[in-house]
Amino acid sequence: MTDPAVSAHAEPEDLDSEASLRPRRLSEFIGQPRVREQLQLVLQGALRRGDPPDHVLLSGPPGLGKTSLAMIIATELGAAIRVTSGPALERAGDLAAMLSNLMPGDVLFIDEIHRVARPAEEMLYLAMEDFRVDVVVGKGPGATSIPLDIAPFTLVGATTRAGVLTGPLRDRFGFTAHMEFYEPEELELVLRRAGEILNVDLRPDGAEEIAGRSRGTPRIANRLLRRVRDYAEVRADGAVTRAVARAALAVYDVDELGLDRLDRAVLTALVRSFGGGPVGVSTLAVAVGEEPATVEEVCEPYLVRAGMLARTPRGRVATAGAWRHLNMEPPPDAVGEQSEPPPTLFG
Ligand SMILES: Nc1ncnc2c1ncn2[C@@H]1O[C@H](COP(=O)(O)OP(=O)(O)OP(=O)(O)O)[C@@H](O)[C@H]1O
Ligand SMILES: [Mg+2]
Repeated sequence: MTDPAVSAHAEPEDLDSEASLRPRRLSEFIGQPRVREQLQLVLQGALRRGDPPDHVLLSGPPGLGKTSLAMIIATELGAAIRVTSGPALERAGDLAAMLSNLMPGDVLFIDEIHRVARPAEEMLYLAMEDFRVDVVVGKGPGATSIPLDIAPFTLVGATTRAGVLTGPLRDRFGFTAHMEFYEPEELELVLRRAGEILNVDLRPDGAEEIAGRSRGTPRIANRLLRRVRDYAEVRADGAVTRAVARAALAVYDVDELGLDRLDRAVLTALVRSFGGGPVGVSTLAVAVGEEPATVEEVCEPYLVRAGMLARTPRGRVATAGAWRHLNMEPPPDAVGEQSEPPPTLFG
């Protein structure tokens, strides 16, 4: 399993503090300037017209603030939010019950919308487009379908895997927000805000150190802050300085780039067992004893972003930076290696 310290997925220990750390308003939401601006326009336009806004799809890796944004959308609209998730909508009847209970203007939040079962998904098409559901009564040849109007609502869907959504579903969202990894400076702001809420004596250099190791992900930044705070209180005087952050994160096996044991295992396998690649993701996953999906969805996005791994049509390849990160000399043809300057005539 991934080390929970830098897993982007919510761990049980996150749930308590996440409720208190969630930004409540769009103006409190740090980073994602493009998404914030676009969303602001969508919401203000709708408020001005007095209609529910277009359906919104939030897509991006775990822990970047999709659920937070869904709640913010409802708050900004002054609307009630109903929350469900793809896996909970196994039968179309489950969804029909939710939809027919909506009040005008409600926000329906479906987390992990890529996991909605097919019959429910088809019901969603009509609901999103025409605010109608067809309820099937009876079974077999005698079954009839009764059309039922539902209240105009806004669907907010969240997904970590926009690529696997079916076309018809994707097309019914009027607005898609692609969440990006956060810049270190943005994570410093996230940390400072969390430090204030949690009453942590977080110093600027300490915030900078933690931000740099948080894999572009607010959830990880907040979690590392809690770990470092424990260390600061037990082994130091409570102040989170750079030195304290470094010492604490060494204990939790989080390196300067925020890579954990699994990330390093993936890179090490790629470099040592496969000569730097290219190698297919499933082969790589077997080599580190993980599910391909974990390697693909949890490790890779950040390894790619950190410039350690490249996805090529022939498979995964370690970059020169990856070789160096593992204290090894990259081969001359490694991706990202400065190629030899072309020989000049007079050189
Ligand atoms: N822009 C932000 N500003 C401040 N804090 C944030 C921001 N985005 C996320 N967070 C913090 O990160 C935590 C995780 O965010 P959230 O639950 O919204 O992520 P998510 O994208 O829904 O993750 P998942 O894919 O696992 O559902 C929040 O509780 C909040 O504390
Ligand atoms: Mg979420």
